[in-house]
Amino acid sequence: MGLSTPLIHQTVSPLYLLAAFLLSTVVYFLVKSKRAGLDHIRGPWLAKYSNIWRGYQAWRINHHTEGVNNYQIEMIGRWGDVVRIGPTHVLVYNPEAIDTIYGFRERLDKGPGYKVFLMTGTDQTALVSIKDEKTHGIFRRPLAHAYSLSSLKGYEPYIDEMIEKLILELDKHDAAQSPINMTRWLQFWAFDVMSKISFGEPIGFLDHGNDFNGMIQAQRENFRYISVANNFLFLDTLTKRNPLLKLFKKKPSMFFTFAKRVVNERLAKAAKDPEAQSQSGRHDDLLASFIAARKSYPLMTDIRITHVTATNVLAGANNSARAMDSAINWLTAHPEAQDRLYNEIKSVNMEAMKEAKTEGPAALELALKMPYLDAVIQESYRQFGAPANNLERLVGESGLTLPNGVHLPPGTVVCMNAASMSMLPDVFGKDVRVFNPDRWMQQSGESAEDFHERRWSMQRAMIVFGHGSRSCIGKNIVQLELYKLWATLLRIYKFEPAGVKVHQVMTIPKRREQKGGKAVEI
Ligand code: HEM
Repeated sequence: MGLSTPLIHQTVSPLYLLAAFLLSTVVYFLVKSKRAGLDHIRGPWLAKYSNIWRGYQAWRINHHTEGVNNYQIEMIGRWGDVVRIGPTHVLVYNPEAIDTIYGFRERLDKGPGYKVFLMTGTDQTALVSIKDEKTHGIFRRPLAHAYSLSSLKGYEPYIDEMIEKLILELDKHDAAQSPINMTRWLQFWAFDVMSKISFGEPIGFLDHGNDFNGMIQAQRENFRYISVANNFLFLDTLTKRNPLLKLFKKKPSMFFTFAKRVVNERLAKAAKDPEAQSQSGRHDDLLASFIAARKSYPLMTDIRITHVTATNVLAGANNSARAMDSAINWLTAHPEAQDRLYNEIKSVNMEAMKEAKTEGPAALELALKMPYLDAVIQESYRQFGAPANNLERLVGESGLTLPNGVHLPPGTVVCMNAASMSMLPDVFGKDVRVFNPDRWMQQSGESAEDFHERRWSMQRAMIVFGHGSRSCIGKNIVQLELYKLWATLLRIYKFEPAGVKVHQVMTIPKRREQKGGKAVEI
C-alpha cells in the first residue's frame, strides 16, 4: 500500500514525443503522396511530398526578380511537359492539352488555389473563384452583356477622357523636356480608366499624380501574396480567413469607401426614378448595366453589384498596367519601332483625324487596322508574366487523360501557368525571352499559309487571358484600352530614354508635331 506503480510516475521524454511527431508527419506525407497516384509523373523530389517546394519557389522568385514572377518559367523542359509540382498537383506545358483541361467537354471544376481570391469579410464569391461550372454560369450570365463586343463602343468616350488627361501630363514633360516615370503614369491611367468604365468616375490618380490612397501599392502586394498563398493554402487560412484577425480589422480601404459611395448613390437614383437611369446616357458604364440587369436577375443584389463593379478595377487595372509597361519599356529602347508604328498609325489615321479637326484619341475602328500595332500589343501580353497564379482545375471522378496519353487520377489538381506557356521556345521561337513583335508578323519568305499556321499556334498557346468558359470576361475592354492608348500616344509623341537608371521606365516624351499639326524635327 502506498507504493505507486512505476508506470504512473514515469514521464515520457520530450525527445520521444518529438520523434513520434516527426515520424507521424513523415508517414502522413508519404501516404498522401502515394495515395495521389501520381508516381508516374516526374518532378522535383520534394514536390512529390509537400507543397513547400512550390510555395518556396514562388516566394523566392517573387522576392528576387521584379520582372518575371513565375517560377514555372524556369522549369520549362527540365522535367518534360507534364511535371509534378506538389503531392496532388501537376503542371502541364503542352499546348495541345489546353482544350482538354479548360475546354467545354470536360468542364473541370476550379482547383483549391482559387480560394485566395475569395473576398475577405463578405459572403460574396468573386466570379473567378466560383468552383463549379453550373454556379459560375448563373453568376456570369447577368454580367456578360456589359463586357461584350457590342458594348465596347459605349466605353470609348470614357477612355478618350482619360487619354486626354494623360496627354496633359505628357505635354508638361514635353515642354520642360523632363523625364516622366511612365511605369507609374500608366498605372495611374489603368486604374483611373478601369474605374471610369466601371463606376463612371475615375479614382483620381491622374489628378493627384501619385498613389494617394495606397491602392496601387496594396494591389501589388496582393498579387505577390496570391502568387505565394495559392500554393500554401494554410497561410491563407491563418491570415486572410482567420476570424481572430477580424478583431484587429483596419477600417475599410479608401477604394471600398469610394466604391460603396458611388454604388449607393446610383442605386438610390435608380430606385427613385428607374426610367432616368436608362435614359441618362450613363447606361454606358458597367455599373449602370449591372443595375439594369437586376430587372431580370434577382441575384444582382446591392452588395453583389458593389462587389462585381469593384472587382473589375482590382482584377483588371494591375494586369493591364503591366502589359502597357512591358510595351513602353521596349518602345523607349527602340526608336526605330516607334517610327515604324508612327508611320503605320499615320497612314491609317491621319486623314480621319484631320477631318475631325482633333489630335485626340484614335477611334477604335482605325486603331484595329494596324498590324504592327497589333503585334506590339500581342507581344506585350506575352511578355508581362501574369497572372500570378496557376490556372488550376480539379480532375473529376472519371480521371483525365492528356493528349500525350498521361493519365491523371481523380482528385489531381491539374494546371497550366500562363506566363510559362507564353515562353515555350517550340512555339514562340528561340528568342522567347526577348520582346520581339515581329514574331507576330509574316516573315520574309514565309508563305501566307505557313504564317497563318505559326500565328495560330502562338495564339493557341497563349493563355494569358485563360481559356474556355472561365476565361477573362474583361479581355475586350483591355484590347479597347490598349489599341486606343498606343494608337494615340505613339502618333503624338516619340518617347526617348531619359538615361536615369531606376527599375521603372523613365522617358522624355517629345511631340512629333506641334499642337497645330506642324511637324517637329526630332
Ligand atoms: C491584361 C489584362 C488582363 C489579364 C491578363 C487578365 C487575365 C485573366 C485571367 C487569366 C483570368 C482567369 C482565368 C482562369 O481562372 O482560368 C481572368 C478572369 C477574369 N478577369 Fe481578367 N485579365 C485582364 C484584365 C481584366 C479586366 C480589364 C477586367 C475587367 C473589366 C477583368 C475581369 C476579369 C474577371 C471578372 C474574371 C473572372 C471571369 C470568370 O471567372 O468568369 N480582367 N482574367
